[in-house]
Amino acid sequence: MKIGTYYYPEQWPREQWERDFDHIAEMGLQIVHMGEFAWFDMEPAPGEFRLDWLSECVEMAAKRKLSVILCTPTAAPPIWLVQQNPEVLPIDEFGRRARPGGRRHYNPTAPALFDATRRIVSALAERFGEHPSIIGWQIDNEFSGPFDQSEPTHEAFRQWLRRKYETIENLNKGWGLAFWNQYFTDFSQVLLSPEREPRYGSPHQNLDSSRFWSYALANFARIQAEILRPRIGKRWITTNFMPFHLDLNPADSSEFLDLMSWDSYPITGWVKNPVDEMYRLGDPAVIAFTHDQMASYHNRWGLMELQPGHTNWSGYPVLPYPGTVRLWIWTAFAHGAEFVTTYRFRQPRFGIELFHDGLVGTDGVTPSPGGRQFMQVIDEIRLLDRAKLPPLSDEFDPATTIGLVYDHDQLWEFEILPQTKRWNQPHWLRLWYAAAARIGLRVKILAPGQPWPQKLPMIVAPALQMVSEQDVRQMESYAQDGGHLVLTCRTGLMDRNGHLFEGKTAKPILSMIGGEIEAYDSLPQNAWGQVEFENKKYSWGVWGDLLYANPETKVLAKYADQFYSGGAAVTQHKFGSGAVTYCGVHGEAPFVEALMERLAAQLNLRPIALPPRVHVVRRGPYRILLNYQDTSVIAPAPSTARFIIGTRTVEPAGVAVWEQATTDAAPEPVREEAAPARSGLGKLRRRRG
Ligand code: GAL
Repeated sequence: MKIGTYYYPEQWPREQWERDFDHIAEMGLQIVHMGEFAWFDMEPAPGEFRLDWLSECVEMAAKRKLSVILCTPTAAPPIWLVQQNPEVLPIDEFGRRARPGGRRHYNPTAPALFDATRRIVSALAERFGEHPSIIGWQIDNEFSGPFDQSEPTHEAFRQWLRRKYETIENLNKGWGLAFWNQYFTDFSQVLLSPEREPRYGSPHQNLDSSRFWSYALANFARIQAEILRPRIGKRWITTNFMPFHLDLNPADSSEFLDLMSWDSYPITGWVKNPVDEMYRLGDPAVIAFTHDQMASYHNRWGLMELQPGHTNWSGYPVLPYPGTVRLWIWTAFAHGAEFVTTYRFRQPRFGIELFHDGLVGTDGVTPSPGGRQFMQVIDEIRLLDRAKLPPLSDEFDPATTIGLVYDHDQLWEFEILPQTKRWNQPHWLRLWYAAAARIGLRVKILAPGQPWPQKLPMIVAPALQMVSEQDVRQMESYAQDGGHLVLTCRTGLMDRNGHLFEGKTAKPILSMIGGEIEAYDSLPQNAWGQVEFENKKYSWGVWGDLLYANPETKVLAKYADQFYSGGAAVTQHKFGSGAVTYCGVHGEAPFVEALMERLAAQLNLRPIALPPRVHVVRRGPYRILLNYQDTSVIAPAPSTARFIIGTRTVEPAGVAVWEQATTDAAPEPVREEAAPARSGLGKLRRRRG
């Protein structure tokens, strides 16, 4: 794994560039990332290219044996472009054109933007495509933005709809426009929704609008990828995604990208119910979910931006726990990242992000606490034998891995028609991920329609509300052929247009469940019901299906209060040579954890008992313990384990890596230290080595 940083030479005096590059190299960093947002400096007037400065910087990097990631600058269109072609600026539903300034002030369907983009990306590719120091390209930055309401966008939407529905009658049907008689008679009448919220319009239109918008952003990325591809040899192309971001479904761009990358800012201060000092460390399941999701598209991924310390934008600039940046880098390593780069090298002196930490301060030479931790990991990783690290391919150990289905389409539907305000699909997905990771299981993220490896002992598909016939067949055949399929409430209710099925609730999955869904309940904010599982009671409030289980179906959990006390909440049904567990209740973490433990035991998986927010990840012979607690823990390593990083006692925000043969005896369960080691401010000054 290579480690590096974004550097914006255009924001610093030229006479400091050599010194900055020296310092980047001296800190041990291996990658410099440049070009992002520098469109004007590259092309100060239409067609007039000034790339010498960038070339000089690439050479400065090369001289110091640094690899380079180049970025296309399209996230920040220059003033001359918006002046000459104001139509590149987005328009809102009231016809107001956005102002230039800042970034992302463009409409990804504007033909004039395409022309200007083709020109600058071609110029960059011609000049730098074959440069030996360049390892890869990042297209644009964090594709996102409100649904544009300009005519080119509406027209592009209509074309997309024509391809999808062919006739206006099909569209009327697909959008359910018999409801309130809102039929169209011609495609030319159709508009892209102004936003995801249906506002009493057709929710099916909002669903297609979301799909189209993702397509439009991906299409703009594709235009750039197609220019780069023939000119850059084997170098990779990516873009940097945001986790669970609704605007862009990563699957829409996976086909023309070589690897996926994302931007991780684990500490925002936005946690609703802060537990101990978790808000200084982040949540490992939240971070690791997206790592594994990114890995799922190509078995190759990178962490493009990693929070180096304080950010400027969250509103709660919590000071990270000492050692946390190091913990985050090791987490990316544990999940097989090809590289980790950080935004940014130097803390800026001006601009909206001037309170954003870098690896060094505004002086360009004094490492920040985050910068020192980057240096520390760079030294530490050298202690591991790269040859022993298996590639992130499809190989996994079925004794310790489960599958989890991620489907971006469902995120849109839940956003458009949440039904209960308490439903949060990313949270529901992460609860299942966290429950598996908590007992040391690896999670392979899967998508509907992609192959589901039959040797995975269990696949959890949380709330696949919309299903096609093909989706149902895929679930059925996995269970029929011996897999253990876990379905949850809000699965199989609708087709992929978002129409309910005619017939019983969740009709297509009832034969798998071995029962029926008689009713559902969802409680008001802060109201909690009880569900009983293995003689313990757990709270739930978001959603509860009242299940009727067929005689041959086992009931695993029952409601323990409300007027339906005693009703079935979780069932298990033999199906073919496998089984289907249906979790009809949206419980909270303790409940999902208990159910996951039970299923893991039933399937003879090899769990490890770990305290909350401690992960142990296997990579080849290495075990990597990531302690996201503000207390020390004891590593569950066999007595024969050889510690390479850290020791058996792992400090708060600490990391330990040990080598362990797979045949080694089952590890000791992890215990929390009696006397938690609390840190003082002095730790912030810890130097590397
Ligand atoms: C990211 C963005 C970066 C920078 C950073 C600040 O979302 O991609 O360019 O703005 O936030 O934390």
